[in-house]
Amino acid sequence: MTRIVVLISGGGSNLQSLLDQCQTDSMDANIVAVISNRPDAFGLSRARQAGVKALTLDHTGYADRAAFDAALAELIEAQKPDLIVLAGFMRILTDDFVRRFPGKMINIHPSLLPRYPGLNTHQRALDAGDSKAGATVHFVTAELDGGPPIAQVEVPISDQDDADSLARKVLVQEHRLYPTVVDWFVKGRLRLDASQVLLDEQPLPKSGRLLDTASL
Ligand code: GRF
Repeated sequence: MTRIVVLISGGGSNLQSLLDQCQTDSMDANIVAVISNRPDAFGLSRARQAGVKALTLDHTGYADRAAFDAALAELIEAQKPDLIVLAGFMRILTDDFVRRFPGKMINIHPSLLPRYPGLNTHQRALDAGDSKAGATVHFVTAELDGGPPIAQVEVPISDQDDADSLARKVLVQEHRLYPTVVDWFVKGRLRLDASQVLLDEQPLPKSGRLLDTASL
């Protein structure tokens, strides 16, 4: 049974897709805790509703980033996770923190990385006149949104799109993309070897496996 800890800061719609996935019999995984750095994150209610331990570690109570990250790392380690899933966790992580969980931490980012790390991804894609947006799941390294990509999904941009409509469309695909990648990890198909991502022991392309929206 794979023990998963999910880190959130907000609404937790991606968390919900993972909670739902773990409730299916075919998934040999348990979300053992959800941790939020914000006490009012709606995702905490989603966790409680699903009978999952919901913990808050409020970053505003810590003197600096290093102190918060050290406390967070301890809280995570106490859950003995096999996999740490960042799902809308809006914190920049220190090198020391990231180094404690090599090859065990993944993140979802709402852009086709390496394009648009950081915030406001959808507006930036629109401003650049891109024809497509999307989302990327990647292993977490110390570089913000810069760890090796595992999988991506693309969403076409239409003339009518604004940042909100695009965010909604991409989010629908995120809810399919993230459970797919978590399933690979749980089944032992996915691993990070140095900075190379292997799926079924085969190296993935630099931007990860491109998933067809129809196949998700
Ligand atoms: C998602 O767009 C995710 O890609 C980004 O933050 C958002 C979180 O949404 N990292 P939710 O909290 O899962 O609804």
